[in-house]
Amino acid sequence: MRICTLDHVRPRMRLARTIYSPDGKILLSAGVAMHPSYVGKLREIGHTSVYIADGMFDDIQVPQVVKDSTRVETITAVREVMTKLPVGGKATLTRAVKAVESMVDEILSSREMLVGLVDLKTLDDYTYAHSVNVGILTLMIARGLGYSRGEMVDLGVGAILHDVGKCQVDQAILQKPEQLTPSEFEQVKRHTQYGFDTLREEFKVNLLSAHVAYQHHERLDGSGYPRGLKSGDIIDWAKIVAVADVYDAITSDRVYRRRLPPSEGIRLLQVEAAGRLDARMVRKLTDYLVPYPIASVVRLSTGETALVISVNPKDFYRPQVKVIKDERGRSLSTQGPVVDLAQELDVSIVKAVDL
Ligand SMILES: [Fe+2]
Repeated sequence: MRICTLDHVRPRMRLARTIYSPDGKILLSAGVAMHPSYVGKLREIGHTSVYIADGMFDDIQVPQVVKDSTRVETITAVREVMTKLPVGGKATLTRAVKAVESMVDEILSSREMLVGLVDLKTLDDYTYAHSVNVGILTLMIARGLGYSRGEMVDLGVGAILHDVGKCQVDQAILQKPEQLTPSEFEQVKRHTQYGFDTLREEFKVNLLSAHVAYQHHERLDGSGYPRGLKSGDIIDWAKIVAVADVYDAITSDRVYRRRLPPSEGIRLLQVEAAGRLDARMVRKLTDYLVPYPIASVVRLSTGETALVISVNPKDFYRPQVKVIKDERGRSLSTQGPVVDLAQELDVSIVKAVDL
């Protein structure tokens, strides 16, 4: 399978992975042949890419650190909390905590920690899907730091609800594609305090988990908000979630810009790490993040286009690839050569490409 942006989906291409609707139901099953009306519908609900089984590369499996069903269940739990709260509904964290426990168990038992989280969340459910991705990335860092299961669950709850305060902010401001006015930005900043209050008063979560919501926009050099705290005053849990939050935000499609591919996201994270994010936490995450995930398409220094077919655990920047287009852009059949960049040291990846 390979990742394909909706612009490049053609009729009769088969879907390689099931797509779920925002309420967790199956929308399109794996194996179904794509039809132009499906593409329109997917676009309508905010999708931008899908996994395509194109016959040539169907044996390529994309490793997942957390099962789709667990991810969908967690998204549903976060949505439930965040839609009930603003209307004064009685929300409980039972479902969310259970979902986090499943994520923790899967992450702790996963041998596939080399994750290419190429995540195909929609614009519509950005807040919920983003919250869950932040949870997964946070738990990967926590595992790298040797946290206990209990700590991981508490931290994970704080991570998936780090933006819970956003439901008390004017949605029109949150969705605004243009730059915010200073007063609008002041309102957005308040989601940290609101989140802390909700987690403490409404849900009685422990103080550290609630501080994740309060401090996840603080930066080590004091440039963050709401309080402009400096490194020594920010708790480790909030530093971890800040790294996860920044990485997932820059590699996601937003209303105001398209996502960056993982390779660019990692590069930017490392730039951002200088002085603002905790370099140790960034390193723990980049230990696991694959810049060129399996099933993504890359341009080689030879001018050829290739599909990443396996990750090289010793050097993420030199995976095994299969050439799918020659240097003049002509498509090759299944006969395209496999190039092991760990061996072919005079060839390198120039950049990730959309196909
Ligand atoms: Fe936030």
